[in-house]
Amino acid sequence: MYVCLCKGVTDHKIRQLVADGARSWAEVRQQTGCGTQCGKCACEGKDIARTAITTQ
Ligand code: FES
Repeated sequence: MYVCLCKGVTDHKIRQLVADGARSWAEVRQQTGCGTQCGKCACEGKDIARTAITTQ
């Protein structure tokens, strides 16, 4: 599912980045651009990234 329409970022992409070594929301945001345009997706993107990081 798309989390960020502005940058075309899916929940799968966020989880994949964490599996590949991303260790913070800031890192995920930097690598995908998620939350950097309109900002509407920032809360959901952050939740997905943090859940993925804590369940690693
Ligand atoms: Fe992600 Fe706009 S939907 S920045």
